[in-house]
Amino acid sequence: MRRRGETMILGLFVHPAGHHVAAWRDPAAWTLRQLHEHVALARMAEAAGLDLYFLADFVEVQLESIEAAGRKAHNGVYGFEPLTLLSALAATTRSIGLVATASTSFSDPYVLARQVASLDHLSGGRAGWNAVTSADPGAAFNFGHQSPLPHAARYARAQEFVDVAQGLWDSWDDDAFVEDRATGRFFDPAGLRRLDHVGDHFRVRGPLNIPRPPQGRPIVVQAGSSEAGKALAARTADLVFTAQSSPATATAFYADLKGRLPAHGRRPGDLKILPGLVPIVAATRAEAQTKLEKLQVLVDPVVGLDLLRNLSGGAPLPPLDLDAPLPPRPPSETAQGRQSLVLDLARREGLNVRELYLRLAPGRGHGQVVGDPGDVADAMQHLFETHGCDGFNLMPAVLPGGLTDFIDLVLPELARRGLVGERPDGVTLRERLGLARPAWPRDETKARSAAS
Ligand SMILES: Cc1cc2nc3c(=O)[nH]c(=O)nc-3n(C[C@H](O)[C@H](O)[C@H](O)COP(=O)(O)O)c2cc1C
Repeated sequence: MRRRGETMILGLFVHPAGHHVAAWRDPAAWTLRQLHEHVALARMAEAAGLDLYFLADFVEVQLESIEAAGRKAHNGVYGFEPLTLLSALAATTRSIGLVATASTSFSDPYVLARQVASLDHLSGGRAGWNAVTSADPGAAFNFGHQSPLPHAARYARAQEFVDVAQGLWDSWDDDAFVEDRATGRFFDPAGLRRLDHVGDHFRVRGPLNIPRPPQGRPIVVQAGSSEAGKALAARTADLVFTAQSSPATATAFYADLKGRLPAHGRRPGDLKILPGLVPIVAATRAEAQTKLEKLQVLVDPVVGLDLLRNLSGGAPLPPLDLDAPLPPRPPSETAQGRQSLVLDLARREGLNVRELYLRLAPGRGHGQVVGDPGDVADAMQHLFETHGCDGFNLMPAVLPGGLTDFIDLVLPELARRGLVGERPDGVTLRERLGLARPAWPRDETKARSAAS
């Protein structure tokens, strides 16, 4: 079972105050509304050897939450635009990967490909893009639509969007810019390729007005778990971020997704899978449990119920008996993957409504471990070695405390077990993650003519 020589990829998924729904009520939590807090957090993660600074993004204020939870609503009320924030962090970090979430439903592929390529150049090859379809129904109203976009339509556009962005990154050959001062030749026209894309959603001539990014193509991350989401990931993603509530579902998801790669001419190692993980760790199990309890008592039932509404499909909840199981929910048009996760979790663990929202409070249904350093390292090692993941996207319940706990208590244990290694300095994110740099299409032509 041991994956010899392999080490875990570890990302830091950053959420204002931390991932626990009540984290912002902890006086030690950082609001992360100030650049210096992000700079400090990113440097902390980088110094500890973590691989990614990962930012989610939602292009709306969830008015449904404000209706349901009133002024207690806070989740998703604010957030910086990730590419803007990561551009600032590119200047204050040296080696950590910078992953921005951006919507395929409400962005433009030429603009986005250019922004991500720019971040890749400016950061020395450390950019990643988490391509999401913006499932929250209200987002559509900020972009000229009169109704939310259906699931299938969002994914059809997403597929074409990613194809266009990746095609644009290939606009220039790696050595196209010869800049020969003596002859006055700035670039080699043979190294330039127009895209001339005409599809159902986009018409994009190209080329992109920026040289090929240092990574060739910046890292593409995908985070949907529905059939359509998995199909998109298998075809195009380098990294998948996923919510898995148990080791059994994680290993099934891992085998399913890796098994889809050969159909696209890809090998299992070409796609890395990172489930989210909320580690709540202290020197002893009892102290870790106390840490969790201190947060759980801060969960107002109104906020807990709204979290449950949101994650179980989004439709309003009828009046509920908190001590009874959650009644059946209408099928979600929005986030199908998360809805089935929550409903399965409730069934599997036999949770009533109150227990269910408290179970979701630390990490919205992602994996969570509460215990001493050995417990957390055991859970991570087990999932890694039984082929349930290639690493984790860490979701500290409170920031920065949850991160420093992990760094101080769990990382040394993982290192002792040989599960995390030294990361070379001065390499691109692709190299860091063990992913091959995509050859520019002309390289294949060159290789063919050299062989003939
Ligand atoms: C772990 C994870 C993280 C996600 N992060 C975001 C995000 O930051 N912004 C967003 O609009 N959607 C996000 N999503 C939603 C997905 O991109 C997708 O739109 C949604 O899950 C619906 O797809 P599905 O039905 O394939 O699961 C995330 C989903 C998962 C599973």
